[in-house]
Amino acid sequence: MPEDTTRRDVLKALGLGTIGATQAAAGLQFAGQEARAVTGGLGSSVDYTDDVIYQILTDRFQDGDTSNNPDGELYDPSNLTKYHGGDWRGIIQRIQDGYLTNLGVTALWISPPFENVYEIHPDYDSAAYHGFWIRDLKKPNPYFGDMSDFKELVSVAHDNDIKIIIDFVPNHSNPASETDGDGFMEEGALYDNGSFVADYDNDPNNYFRHNGGTDFSSYEDGIYRNLYDLADLDVSETYIDQYLKEAITKWLDLGVDGIRVDAVKHMPPKWQKVMMETIYNHAPVFTFGEWFLGSGQTSQRYYEFSNDSGMNLLDFRFGQKIRDVLRDRTDDFNGLHNVIQETKSEHQQVTSQVPFLDNHDMDRFTTASASTTMTDIALAVLLTSRGTPAVYYGTEQYMTGANESGNPENRKSMTSFDTSTTAYAVISKLAALRQSNPAIAYGDTQQRWINGDVYIYEREFGDNAVVVAVNRSQDTWYDINTLQTSLPGGSYADVLDGEVNGWTVSVNDDGSIDQFSFGPHTVSVWAHRGDTTTPTLGHVGPTIGTPGTTVTLGGEGFGSTQGTVRFGSTQGTVQTWSDDRIDVTIPSVAGGFYDVTVESSSGTTSTAFNGFEVLSGEQVTVRFIVDDATTETGENVYLTGNVHELGNWDTSRAVGPFFNQVEYSYPTWYYDVNVPAGQDIEFKFIKEDSSGNVTWESGSNHTYTTPTTGTAEFRTTW
Ligand code: NOJ
Ligand code: NOJ
Ligand code: CA
Repeated sequence: MPEDTTRRDVLKALGLGTIGATQAAAGLQFAGQEARAVTGGLGSSVDYTDDVIYQILTDRFQDGDTSNNPDGELYDPSNLTKYHGGDWRGIIQRIQDGYLTNLGVTALWISPPFENVYEIHPDYDSAAYHGFWIRDLKKPNPYFGDMSDFKELVSVAHDNDIKIIIDFVPNHSNPASETDGDGFMEEGALYDNGSFVADYDNDPNNYFRHNGGTDFSSYEDGIYRNLYDLADLDVSETYIDQYLKEAITKWLDLGVDGIRVDAVKHMPPKWQKVMMETIYNHAPVFTFGEWFLGSGQTSQRYYEFSNDSGMNLLDFRFGQKIRDVLRDRTDDFNGLHNVIQETKSEHQQVTSQVPFLDNHDMDRFTTASASTTMTDIALAVLLTSRGTPAVYYGTEQYMTGANESGNPENRKSMTSFDTSTTAYAVISKLAALRQSNPAIAYGDTQQRWINGDVYIYEREFGDNAVVVAVNRSQDTWYDINTLQTSLPGGSYADVLDGEVNGWTVSVNDDGSIDQFSFGPHTVSVWAHRGDTTTPTLGHVGPTIGTPGTTVTLGGEGFGSTQGTVRFGSTQGTVQTWSDDRIDVTIPSVAGGFYDVTVESSSGTTSTAFNGFEVLSGEQVTVRFIVDDATTETGENVYLTGNVHELGNWDTSRAVGPFFNQVEYSYPTWYYDVNVPAGQDIEFKFIKEDSSGNVTWESGSNHTYTTPTTGTAEFRTTW
């Protein structure tokens, strides 16, 4: 990549709608690794803000190689619970024939690529076509291809400016039954690159948790018991911890650009933070977790996880609400706008989350009874929203189907590859806009006009602005009397070229638009590409890391001459610098939270990204257990100590609340905690009530040396 030119500069020079313009950042060097062919957008494997993710169930997309299809009862393309034959070769073909590149998607989230069980689940008559019934995380699913097919997929994708995201499943192996015992499927058997490790009935080292299935009654219950009948891996065992880290780094070394983590609500949060540190230390890639929320559900834990773990989340708040508003009509645009505001204030960085309309665990967005225009409208809102949108395969073909475990109509094989649908055009036009206009990638969302049916919002970043006007009504015209925008005066064509009834608008010099009557089933998108000349920071990724690891800053107006990046008052070492992207290494500062700022060579400083977390060193997980900690009603046990990870003795940052129900029972409390590896630490347990009153453990501090690798346990009596 030329030092001072990024894909976005090129797109800017070429105008809207140009995709695949450069192989941005090819050859960028990451520490301790071969050159990674990072692709797409800013060429960053951690900043996906200008990308569009396309979610593929590998088995259900395209059968590119019939020779790898299973024999016998596992294979039956007429049965929705059996393998259909789709594979990595099929995805390669659909990249090469232009279906995916012309659609404009720049990242493919594929099914878990790992070896799965070969048995049929008797309760659902189902094979593991979906990829979530893990047998060996270090081997490929042979029905999707072999390792050389996978490498070819990565390389063909990269040659076409497309990133590959794999679905990672560290929570469990595969279905096992405590009660049915021997002979139930493969009894949860786990393999390590082909060698048998243990199964649920033959587990002398306790690599699995044997606490039965969760009833979802508490966070702890969901973590420390099986999710459904899936044999729960005990990540506090060193062997399992190491196995999972080895597995993910193996796939990272194959050139994977991103990770979707399955079932993050069901694993210890601080163990996942250790895993994130491992990933970011090895090869920083965009990682987003699945914390499932139903319609109307929210949870403070969900936001805490997003802000603390270093992992981003699938944006279930947005996903469920846009379904309420545009699919089920149980809410209106005021509800969506409330969610836009809530997520902006609750997430540390809302533009790193992943909104969507549907996925393989939900009824498809499109229904047989609704007009396909509702899908077009929803796609337009999704693709112009903050965060990196994920489009479920087949939405562009208006595929329909309900989510039922015995008959997953929402996971049908692709019905057609028609490139002339309106939905296909909407995705491709807006994917191009995402790449060319940073207002979509980084901008805030401002509501400009709203009622139940109409939502007119503006995304703005630096000198760039995009106005999106949506009317979901089937028959009602609304008078829009005063519409203020920050668009400069002039005429703006609809970026969608009238695909959803939009039109060219005339904007007055003060940014206002004269009164108009806004028709039904309409989306219009008007974009201004400006020229931001002062450093404007839009994104930081990752948001946690140890000194020496690389962080990517995205934005605009950094200037073409190298300036300075600071973590607090300490300069980081700049690796690459361009007007819209800086790669910088975290300086050797103490663990803590730091404001990150960019100062241009001419001395102008950006507003800060607040709260970047520098970890005190490489992380390991220690289980802290305290016995006989009796408490009053409302009191909980926490841990505080002399390192950043334990809050530096600041009790408002103490770790917890500890658990006391499943692995151990009250008055024993426990928690799996991330701490710096190989360090002498001091700490105490505290009790804290709901008003924040703290009772300290008496006596001197506990002292302990944390392990250098693997996991460990510290147990004491209060
Ligand atoms: C969530 C996945 O998306 C779902 O499809 C899967 O069955 C469960 N996690 C268990 O892996
Ligand atoms: C036609 C569009 O369909 C309608 O929605 C819009 O309000 C008017 N043009 C504006 O003139
Ligand atoms: Ca096949």
